Amino acid sequence: MNVKMNANAKRKSGSTMQTVPRQLATSTDLKPDDVRTIAQTVNPLVADAIALYVKTKNFHWHLTGPHFRDYHLLFDEQAAAILESVDALAERVRKIGGTTIHSIGEIGRLQTIADDDEEIVPSAEMIRRLLADNRHIAEQQRKAIEVCDTRGDTPTGNLLQEILDETERRIWFLFELSQSEK
Ligand SMILES: [Fe+2]
Repeated sequence: MNVKMNANAKRKSGSTMQTVPRQLATSTDLKPDDVRTIAQTVNPLVADAIALYVKTKNFHWHLTGPHFRDYHLLFDEQAAAILESVDALAERVRKIGGTTIHSIGEIGRLQTIADDDEEIVPSAEMIRRLLADNRHIAEQQRKAIEVCDTRGDTPTGNLLQEILDETERRIWFLFELSQSEK
């Protein structure tokens, strides 16, 4: 019990910043400092992807108004694409010997987009908020590609390029819808 509590206490201080336990330090030719930097860059992207997945599903579930069918289906499609990126990104961190997300609490500490707990959000506002969040995430992903590439981790950089392309696809759709909602 004490061991468990200590582990939890450690996590509260930000587990991704801790030294990686020997059993999880996957062998790599990347430098430990580079692994740490990449993990610290990619893990908030994992947290943001989960936060955006939940927000997009939240809007999928709580949508109202004349665009119901269109937006309901679009949000579902976008949520699925976001969720797909989560495992791929988290496993990249593990492949280079970093540690990744452990819990909902850790997601909360690392996410950079805000949760949305409002009971009613008009559909035009849903589009506006998702567009803003996806724009923010695209910016973070672009910065992360640069970090990975300069640290010699081209596979994570390449994966992020595909993920950024998907983010930009969502932005394109949301942007066009935001025009028609004006
Ligand atoms: Fe559904």
